[in-house]
Amino acid sequence: MNTGNKFDRPALVRERLDKPLVLIGMMGSGKSHIGKLLGEALDLPFVDSDTEIERQAGLPIAKIFSRDGEPAFRKMERKIVQDLLGNGLQVIATGGGAVMNPETAQAIWEGGLSVWIHADPVILAERAGNPQDRPLLACGNPVEILETLLKERNPVYEKADITVCSDELSVADTVGAVIEALYSHLYKEP
Ligand code: S3P
Repeated sequence: MNTGNKFDRPALVRERLDKPLVLIGMMGSGKSHIGKLLGEALDLPFVDSDTEIERQAGLPIAKIFSRDGEPAFRKMERKIVQDLLGNGLQVIATGGGAVMNPETAQAIWEGGLSVWIHADPVILAERAGNPQDRPLLACGNPVEILETLLKERNPVYEKADITVCSDELSVADTVGAVIEALYSHLYKEP
């Protein structure tokens, strides 16, 4: 097996992968875009838990938050992530707060191979776009909110199997970095 050729890496990763890949990390880290391209590169289906929540609820996330509140949203998110993890090999992008629910986090640590897409709060705020689409960013300065959330969330994100920093990278390069990191993780010496 020639493991030195970078062009072989997606196929080699695919060969060893025995769990769904779960992308975690803050709003604006690019999980959905990265997940879609990663799925294409690895020839795996891609699913976004937020999209699935919206599809099942028949409502946008912002509306679920305003109508039912965050605890109700987290409950739906837990059920949907647990269900998705049972659907075999695929790439799953999760909402930024998913792992803050201990049961959702436990399901991800046990049932998936987790990849934290890390980025600086200023970059996250730029990438997050319109705060109205993200209820948690809509009630103040997005950079400050992201900094506060990161303090609380980083200790949980750090539990991911793999961390990739996307600060300086384009989406395509981040996908390449995730594949490299997966390759190293899956082929490391015991
Ligand atoms: C949230 C992130 C959002 C979405 C919801 C809550 C969070 O997903 O699940 O608005 O708590 O960080 P993205 O990370 O895809 O923006």
